[in-house]
Amino acid sequence: MSNPPHDTLRMVRLREELERRGLDCLALVPGPNLFYLTGLSFHLSERPVVALLPVDAPPAIVLPALEVPKLALAVGAITSYPYTDEEGPVRAFQQACAALELAEARIGVEGLRMRVMEARLLERYAPNCQLIPADEVMEELRILKDAGEIAALRRAVAVAEAALRAVLAQVRPGMTEREAAALLMVELLRGGGEGLPFEPIVVAGPNAASPHAVPTDRPIRTGEPVIIDCGAMVGGYVSDITRTVALGGLPEEMVRVYEVVRQANEVGRAHIQPGRTAQEVDRAARQVIRAAGYGDFFIHRTGHGLGLEVHEPPYIVEGNRLSLQTGMTFTVEPGVYLPGQGGVRIEDDVLVTPGGAETLTTFPRELLVL
Ligand code: CO
Ligand code: CO
Repeated sequence: MSNPPHDTLRMVRLREELERRGLDCLALVPGPNLFYLTGLSFHLSERPVVALLPVDAPPAIVLPALEVPKLALAVGAITSYPYTDEEGPVRAFQQACAALELAEARIGVEGLRMRVMEARLLERYAPNCQLIPADEVMEELRILKDAGEIAALRRAVAVAEAALRAVLAQVRPGMTEREAAALLMVELLRGGGEGLPFEPIVVAGPNAASPHAVPTDRPIRTGEPVIIDCGAMVGGYVSDITRTVALGGLPEEMVRVYEVVRQANEVGRAHIQPGRTAQEVDRAARQVIRAAGYGDFFIHRTGHGLGLEVHEPPYIVEGNRLSLQTGMTFTVEPGVYLPGQGGVRIEDDVLVTPGGAETLTTFPRELLVL
């Protein structure tokens, strides 16, 4: 197999992966995979956009004519098949599928992302093609971060930590969870974040007993744990940090829970080593919480990969025997949630290094009483 000229390193690796799996082409819709390979971002909307990356020919993209100006940002050459709103996408799909000879092709698709609409268009205009879920092809490419990606992640962490610091200086008893979350959004964007990778969570008291609770109009009171979980996006890469703080002193049990979670976070991070499995990191963190008697209240995995997406491989969870490797980035975020009372979560972002792990997040982990 010879690569077309001007292929980027990522495209070269993609072609190798496709060939290894006996796929003729990869079809991508807007999202992180398309961005990773081409530098292009589009909205996933009612106007279909499909990039076709064949194993033995230059890439092509079917897209609405109004999106053509964005192609100037593409990394590497890409042939475009634009369609206008008036004509619709049929002719463009026909032409692209014919030009790339996709009839009877084995086409890898994003099972987690492609919709029935795009699948039907491909099946119709690439007769007798086979659409094969191939998410793991891109997962494999993206799981090890290069220097540029790590630099972007560091900037995303810095923006999130600055926003967290700014908001903690303003949170007062009586402020509602939603008001605090709104401040956080403003600070994340003002500090250089490019949109919000996810809606920040600020939840207090009983509401903090649910890991993904939505901020409410309930005022934050003294003596309650407040879970603050936020992230920034910089250069397409995202951070994800959680700290639990207290307004005034916490009940004794919550202080104890805080210390257990802090220790679980520390032990989990200290356990990271190239060659260890993802599940071993989960077990190490979980064991601390179990030993303290709170095992039943740690109701989620220890962490998730972090990159172009807030949740991506590697998942730090029991059953995941994936070996950690230098260049992987993920969160370590143990938590304990006591129904009716509240919860504690401490989330850091880590980079696997030859000697263990570097924690990218630097925000203090001692219980902060505001
Ligand atoms: Co988070
Ligand atoms: Co997270």
